[in-house]
Amino acid sequence: MIFIGSDHSGINLKELIISYLNNKKIRVIDISEANTAEDDYPDIALSLSKEVLKNNENLAIGICGTGIGMSIACNKLKGIRAAVCVDEYTAEMARKHNNANIICLGARTAYSKDIEKIYKILDAFLNTQYEGGRHDRRLQKIRTLEEKNDLEGE
Ligand code: RB5
Repeated sequence: MIFIGSDHSGINLKELIISYLNNKKIRVIDISEANTAEDDYPDIALSLSKEVLKNNENLAIGICGTGIGMSIACNKLKGIRAAVCVDEYTAEMARKHNNANIICLGARTAYSKDIEKIYKILDAFLNTQYEGGRHDRRLQKIRTLEEKNDLEGE
């Protein structure tokens, strides 16, 4: 399943993305349907991350003004790999190398002024598979960091 959520700054972009994906017959579940002008991105990040963590195959799109706050908050949850993607390359690599399960986009950024660019970034993210191989070792090290949660290392 694909989930989407935005804070107050990304409502318009979120709606455009939902229409774009629906037109391509891709179902996307809006976890912030009840968006208000008071929404805070950490609350949306938590709801989005909870959905993603229910199934390994799940992906999500998180939107705030820059994508940064949303990604920082999502990445506090164990098992979440949220990536701010600003072009097709970073979107493709976020999946291929990092097995990112949440793409974070900035609704107030220069790149988001060009909606076609946003659609290309999304396509790159959604159409790319994790490569595995040597990246498994690196993702395992991230899991170790999550478990230890300290600054001492091994
Ligand atoms: C909200 O005004 C804004 O700070 C938020 O959307 C986001 O850009 C934070 O990273």
